[in-house]
Amino acid sequence: MCYFIGLRSARSTDPRQEKGPVTQFPALPRAGEDCGKERTAEQERERMEPWKMILSEIAARDEYRSLTRIAVAGDSVAACGEVVDLSSNDYLCLSRDQRLVEAAIAAARRFGVGSTGSRLMSGNLDIHRELEEAIAQWKGTEAALLMGSGYLANLGVISALSTTVDQVFLDRLCHASIVDGVRLGGRRFRRFRHNDPGHLEELLQGAKDPSRVLVVVEGVYSMDGDVVPLNELLALRARFGFILLIDDAHGIGVMGREGRGVVAVNRACEVDVHIGTFGKALGCYGAFIACSSSLREFLVNVARPFIFSTAPAPPLLGAALRALEIVRSESGIRSRLLSTAAWFRQRLRQDLGVSTPSRSHIVPVILGENALALEAADRLRAAGFHVKAIRPPTVPRGEARLRISLTTASSREQLARLLRVLQGVVGSC
Ligand SMILES: Cc1ncc(COP(=O)(O)O)c(C=O)c1O
Repeated sequence: MCYFIGLRSARSTDPRQEKGPVTQFPALPRAGEDCGKERTAEQERERMEPWKMILSEIAARDEYRSLTRIAVAGDSVAACGEVVDLSSNDYLCLSRDQRLVEAAIAAARRFGVGSTGSRLMSGNLDIHRELEEAIAQWKGTEAALLMGSGYLANLGVISALSTTVDQVFLDRLCHASIVDGVRLGGRRFRRFRHNDPGHLEELLQGAKDPSRVLVVVEGVYSMDGDVVPLNELLALRARFGFILLIDDAHGIGVMGREGRGVVAVNRACEVDVHIGTFGKALGCYGAFIACSSSLREFLVNVARPFIFSTAPAPPLLGAALRALEIVRSESGIRSRLLSTAAWFRQRLRQDLGVSTPSRSHIVPVILGENALALEAADRLRAAGFHVKAIRPPTVPRGEARLRISLTTASSREQLARLLRVLQGVVGSC
């Protein structure tokens, strides 16, 4: 199925080939060379700032990124002036929920604002253990280990696990932190076509020992909003016995019973490693790895981002504990968000003829070229919507898009207005 509605890039993207933009650093003068030559201040600055050339290459590809000022995080209207924010990962609007704020304050009063060291030094507080136990109980795993962020969790667990296997297979659309984790482990990897268990099976059949393969997928894909074909994947795992890691950064809190994400509790033991972050639907910052007790011990001993970094800070842990209670007990907020998302996707298809891979609260409108996505985001912004243009390397080249991220603050009235604006934008692409 092709979801493009705009121009497609002439450059093809081979899912099995990892290609990054080729950047060339300008040659710096060797020691002794150039000495004594007079330089203007401008020339001197150019010489000292070789990254400028790389920045101009990035800009030439329409991939230049700049920061948008957000006055108050998590406030969908006030965040960007009078603009409706549809770019946030605060899917349940918990980041400013006073119950979390109070819990953070209480944890700060009890434990302080910092954890004072890594977990293996002075930073192993009772609140770390309390949250880990709550996570393991919620996810249905033997144990859990907290990490500073989802990025660090992937870096830590994937680099550590990749040294225990012969090969690593990633879904083609896996997040950069997953790719970086394999690289930190010093391993090469192969990609299988996105959400294509048939292609994964082919790769497994070609592996010398499929039980010594690490397979990494996401639960809900961050830029496509589609969901992993879990049943097929678990059937393959039962057949081949590979190690399976599911990063459910965007499913946690939103999908599944009690917000457990895409893996139901009765199937938790069929997944070797579950990754979740506190920085998205749970409204805070930090992450967890839910797994067996022995894997947790292994990570405590070898995962570099765990060993060599300060332990997560108590206020965030207090807030995460409270967020966890809320997502477990308040299924209404979750179902409201998912039904608004289903309604929006259907209107997009019916009214605008735009089909999207999404099956969740993340709804991309894939436009193709970077310039199209940038122009579309500008036009939405002018009409009062903050929607990000997502470009390479976050998405494959030629698949630039608008990423519409719905939250519990997204009302149908706002979205109906967005659809009217999108109609003009998409129609002219
Ligand atoms: C799939 C996935 N994993 C991990 C991360 C990183 O999580 P964090 O923002 O907590 O570092 C992201 C962030 O967007 C993500 O999309």
